[in-house]
Amino acid sequence: MSSSPERQTTMLAHEDIRQSFGGIYGGSLYGAKGAKGRVSDTVAAQLLTLYTLLLAQHRNLWSTHNQVMGSTYYGDHLLLERLYTSMTEEIDDLAERMVAWIGPGAVDNVPVVQGMARWLTAWAQEAEPFHRAMLGEQAIQEELQRTYDTIKAGGQMSLGMDDLLMGMANEHEKAVYLLQQRLGGRR
Ligand SMILES: [Fe+2]
Repeated sequence: MSSSPERQTTMLAHEDIRQSFGGIYGGSLYGAKGAKGRVSDTVAAQLLTLYTLLLAQHRNLWSTHNQVMGSTYYGDHLLLERLYTSMTEEIDDLAERMVAWIGPGAVDNVPVVQGMARWLTAWAQEAEPFHRAMLGEQAIQEELQRTYDTIKAGGQMSLGMDDLLMGMANEHEKAVYLLQQRLGGRR
């Protein structure tokens, strides 16, 4: 993928978004709700980052599925549908683990939607829909790795979470491949 000034700006925005999630959690949100979190605030913030990212990419792919037009419409429409529908189960699995690990407040609507809006706003700088989809996939690859490393470093990895993260990485590598083909085989 090229590193035009626009793309560079978007990737920098990703870093800002990522860092802002520590602020959302900070311990007080769950503390106020009396949640009995079994993971550190760092792990909780990282899980929220990943969760909102997956939901944002699901929305990104779905709206693009609705918006595509022109001579490649049919194939694009189906490709995007395949990509976003394949995400619902992984998002649900992650949400259920977050509730088990952190408490019900882990998936409260308002902080989740605020997080989604940050990702989607950053990606909106990219007008070309398949490059925009790729921005989301690149962020997912980065955040899956970071989530794995953060949980592992905190000694909080379970076999189930390990399997979930590995399965997501596998599925999203396939998504990157499919999007690369749509973009003409360029990386
Ligand atoms: Fe549809």
